[in-house]
Amino acid sequence: MLTKLLCLGLVAYASAAVKLQEVFSWNAMDWNYPNELQRQEAILSGSLIRENALPVGIERWRNKLFVSVPRWRPGIPATLNYIPLDAPHEASPRLTPYPSFEENEVGNCDTGLTTVYRVKADRCDRLWVLDVGTYGYDPNVTNACPYSLNVYDLHTNTRIRKYVFRPEDIVASTFIANIALDEGATCEDTFAYFSDELGYGLIVYSWEQNKSWRFSHSYFMPDPLVGDFNIAGLNFQWGAEGIFGITASPPGADGYRTLYFSPLSSHTEFSVSTRILRDESMVKAASFHDFKVVGNRGPNGHTTSKVMDDTGVQLYNLIDQNAIGCWSSSLPLKPENTAIADKDDVGLVFPCDVKIDDDKNVWVLSDRMPVFLESELDYSDINFKIFTSPLRNMIEGTVCEPPSFTISTPLPTPTLAPSLPQTPLYGLSLNYHSHRPYYPSYSLSGQRIRSFSPTEHESFDDKRFADLPRATYPLTATTPNTNDPFTFDRSPWWIRSTAQGRVHGRQY
Ligand SMILES: *[C@@H]1O[C@H](CO)[C@@H](O)[C@H](O)[C@H]1NC(C)=O
Ligand SMILES: *[C@@H]1O[C@H](CO)[C@@H](O)[C@H](O)[C@H]1NC(C)=O
Repeated sequence: MLTKLLCLGLVAYASAAVKLQEVFSWNAMDWNYPNELQRQEAILSGSLIRENALPVGIERWRNKLFVSVPRWRPGIPATLNYIPLDAPHEASPRLTPYPSFEENEVGNCDTGLTTVYRVKADRCDRLWVLDVGTYGYDPNVTNACPYSLNVYDLHTNTRIRKYVFRPEDIVASTFIANIALDEGATCEDTFAYFSDELGYGLIVYSWEQNKSWRFSHSYFMPDPLVGDFNIAGLNFQWGAEGIFGITASPPGADGYRTLYFSPLSSHTEFSVSTRILRDESMVKAASFHDFKVVGNRGPNGHTTSKVMDDTGVQLYNLIDQNAIGCWSSSLPLKPENTAIADKDDVGLVFPCDVKIDDDKNVWVLSDRMPVFLESELDYSDINFKIFTSPLRNMIEGTVCEPPSFTISTPLPTPTLAPSLPQTPLYGLSLNYHSHRPYYPSYSLSGQRIRSFSPTEHESFDDKRFADLPRATYPLTATTPNTNDPFTFDRSPWWIRSTAQGRVHGRQY
């Protein structure tokens, strides 16, 4: 124990998270009960054993930050929980069961949840939750309920669907660790994908058909050469761990997303088009070559959690490096095209889950999981942390940053449009720097984006133009005084009059 703590302490000097800001941290997790008496009773009866709780998954939806806690050990009162983000900030908030304690009843296969790892919210304000139905940890695992998908309406906090996986979707060794969503044009057109880490499968669920099917492929299997792990001063082997982290790309030119995946015991990234996955007949018809090798993250590239934003930037946890890595899928995946977005040798020991919310904030949960599983956590120390950072800050200055353009005054060509690279325009980000109180508003193709307030530095993102076809567009500035529109390519007087002004834009 002492050796391990020294180890954690010494490497503290190596690095500390600089972009990720710590929002919450805990020595041990705790729960909100209707009153303190009930909490004390739960502690006395053993239905709450704080030091048995390890948070493993997070997801932000509006004013809620969901936190999942598997029932690997007894005394976990709820596996699905949240922290209200609109409540007065507490550094170590207690978890609130979602939707209720009752609906988290262990072993209740009808209305309860037994063990949840990862959860995902969608654009239609639904929360997708996989209940693996087991409690206990290897070798003492009890299969209380079948694998089931539970989907909640986040406005009414009620379960709107429960789907039990078919026996054919599951094999004896199945261990489903992760979930990715593939959202189509309508809420009905939503698919969910589940990685079967130890059964080496990929399970597809169609919301519209309320039906699931299972793909197998040798790319779901571990690389036996990289099954050795060194984390937090512990050495252990997770050599059997197959397909784990999964995430869907933005839609491609053919309208289909790409599902990226990687086995845990692997440094390689693979992909498959959702055109294949969405089609049940492809279970038999898909060829070996419909699954692709994307590239390699390089040494110490084990990852369990990945997420891609709508510009094609992927973030992933690097569990050997106490870090979050990034890669822009516009570049070939090889070590030199990846970067460490942030790293912290104390705070990010086992960065278990990484998510990007609708406001383009990154959320990271770190939980020292290997110490919990293979050794013993020291509950006088901070063990669990949740961090956040705007995605833009995370990737700024790295190879993962999207191509950018800068217009400096005086302008050589007073036109913004020709500088826009010919890539799909998912959104536009502008940074306005000025030492004078000129604050124009912008329009793109006649649609007003917004105006700037009189600060020296301001920036914003706008995704309303995600559907615009690949082209260049005139960017228009309007002055607040006259409301006269000015396009840069006609009369860029504003640019000239703010001699120190600079517009710095980035195209998504
Ligand atoms: C499994 O359960 C048995 C009986 O409760 C117990 O004796 C044993 O220590 C447990 N093993 C592990 C690894 O937890
Ligand atoms: C979906 O399938 C499940 C079987 O697991 C069934 O119980 C449920 O009623 C179905 N829901 C809908 C909306 O068809």
